[in-house]
Amino acid sequence: MYNKLVRLEVMKNLGKEVEDFKASYLTPVEKIWQPADFLPDSSSDNFKYEVEELQSFAREMDYDLFVTLIGDCITEEALPTYESWLMGVDGIDQEENSGWASWIRSWTAEENRHGDLLNKYLYLCGRVNMREVEITTHYLIQDGLDIGTTMDPYRNFVYTSFQETATNVSHRRVGTFAKQCGNKKLAQMCGMIAADEARHAKAYKNFVTRILELDPSEMVLAFEDMMRKKIVMPAHLMRESGQQAGELWSHFSDAAQRCMVYTGQDYIDILADLLDEWKIEHLTNLTEKAQKAQEYLMKLPSRLQKITERIATPDLEYQFKWIKS
Ligand SMILES: [Fe+2]
Ligand SMILES: [Fe+2]
Repeated sequence: MYNKLVRLEVMKNLGKEVEDFKASYLTPVEKIWQPADFLPDSSSDNFKYEVEELQSFAREMDYDLFVTLIGDCITEEALPTYESWLMGVDGIDQEENSGWASWIRSWTAEENRHGDLLNKYLYLCGRVNMREVEITTHYLIQDGLDIGTTMDPYRNFVYTSFQETATNVSHRRVGTFAKQCGNKKLAQMCGMIAADEARHAKAYKNFVTRILELDPSEMVLAFEDMMRKKIVMPAHLMRESGQQAGELWSHFSDAAQRCMVYTGQDYIDILADLLDEWKIEHLTNLTEKAQKAQEYLMKLPSRLQKITERIATPDLEYQFKWIKS
């Protein structure tokens, strides 16, 4: 267990700068893109033609890549879970109109556009069993989160730093592959989402950097604890109709690996990026316990590298109920 009083003090201190964080890492509502900017306008004469074009590109998409896009959409659609979770974190007070609660609300508001855009794209694309996708989303929100962070702000900021980077990678790659197939519209949508995720990742990484200045040993221990548990993806409890919580996850993750949208190597690369960003190797004035954690963390990428090289991705394609055959 951690010393909650110190956590609250650190969060209170940093919370005074939330307005600056919002100005640096978020974009004002009327300046930022909205889903309608990238979707066919149903009041336009071109609507039918644009939907037909969107559908013909969707039909040609590689099965695993299409699965990954749907799973990414569902992950975004479970946003109510992430917002309510973060609102409960120590040092974040929902009753406040300013401070951390205001950060969470503003971040959520930006994130909300991601699921909105992808969901509408999938609805229009003619290749998706929307009812099955909706059932997965419904279950995912109902099943909640199990991510090993507890209500510790340090662990949660490690998690969000990792996650925002992982979603950046995933959306960016789907966009790149879509572009290679000439699907410029989808490439643009995924590119816009990926750019948001990159800003968010920078913000959360900066929060950890700041905490490392204020409470380095405890921050390193929290990082170590999260990595020992392994960072699970927020949608790891994913299932489809008729399944138990989590039953679908490995099929989705295999599909993402096969099409190279998100792989075991990405997990290691993100970890290495965080170690570098937070200058873990060069931290001094750590307690003995935190020095051990520092050593563990610095050795982890090469250890994981050896394990990852031995794991083969199953090449058996699973037939998802999400996709119309
Ligand atoms: Fe997102
Ligand atoms: Fe995100």
